[in-house]
Amino acid sequence: MPETLLIKTDFRRGAEWREAFAGFDVEVREWGAPGDPAEIDYALVWKPKPGALAAFPNLKIIFSIGAGIDHLLGEDVLPRGLPVVRMVERALTAGMTEYVLYHVLRFHRFMPQYEAGRREGAWREIPQTPAWRRRVGLLGLGVLGADAARALAALGFDVAGWSRGEKNIRGVASHHGARGLREMLARSEILVCLLPLTAQTENILNAETFAQLPKGAFVINAARGGHCMEEDLLAALESGHLAGAALDVFKTEPLEKSSPLWRHPRVYITPHIASMTVPATAAEHVMENIRRFRAGRELTHLADLAREY
Ligand code: NAP
Ligand code: GLV
Repeated sequence: MPETLLIKTDFRRGAEWREAFAGFDVEVREWGAPGDPAEIDYALVWKPKPGALAAFPNLKIIFSIGAGIDHLLGEDVLPRGLPVVRMVERALTAGMTEYVLYHVLRFHRFMPQYEAGRREGAWREIPQTPAWRRRVGLLGLGVLGADAARALAALGFDVAGWSRGEKNIRGVASHHGARGLREMLARSEILVCLLPLTAQTENILNAETFAQLPKGAFVINAARGGHCMEEDLLAALESGHLAGAALDVFKTEPLEKSSPLWRHPRVYITPHIASMTVPATAAEHVMENIRRFRAGRELTHLADLAREY
């Protein structure tokens, strides 16, 4: 009997997921029709309710459909002792790099100002700044941050990043620790957040952080809404200290209709789509780990639950 993979996705992509695993030696079952719970070997999940995974007594690995695992860390969500594998797949990485490049280039080339000019019918030229004079800082130099940093460096930007450990990425200055954070913020005209949401990183985009950025800086948050103190961001925009923000993620999602962020002229909102897991490439990552597990080999991209990422 083939092993069984249970899939729970919040997006209506059931058929795409089944197709992605069609050529592999694993039977796919959908969350709504799991059959005998004892037959489920692996689970690929987005946001399972507390206690829901405990119904499958023979689970061997939990795969997160997302790169982040914060949605799995609530009380009683994860059965004890099971390995949790993060989603790392090339389409998800490429999508995030596209999102970061798009917004960095927009801000760098003054597109918000030109769009305002267009609305007013105003012909206003702004002197061009070469990329090598534009300082971009990335909070987080993991799978996604490092890929975006490399792409920015390849375009010639002056790039720095902040991570827990030191990194050696060509063309990217590495910062770590509290002092490293201060140094990086002080130089970042465009700040990009690609951190995981943990107890240490929650609310890291706050008034104190914004105050350390140069006047006129832009903030791009493509990580989690829990990173950003939205009222502090609005205050920093209102005071003129920040010039604009691109936000893909919010404390409450969907963002409430009443949120002033929707109406702010210098806030650019997308609905948590900076990047999405693509079933065809995600299936390769899941199967690679299932094969490794079967062969008794180490899994790749295992989440460290103590570190929360
Ligand atoms: P990752 O590979 O685990 O990288 C996380 C990075 O953050 C690492 O560089 C890590 O440092 C650093 N970090 C963690 N805690 C830190 C701390 N306390 N101080 C300094 N640096 C810290 O994660 P990833 O795959 O790049 O994904 C990052 C996040 O992006 C995910 O967790 C998710 O929330 C978000 N995301 C959002 C979307 C979207 O559509 N909006 C899509 C995908 C992912 P070390 O390298 O030193 O460990
Ligand atoms: C999406 O937000 C992810 O974590 O992959």
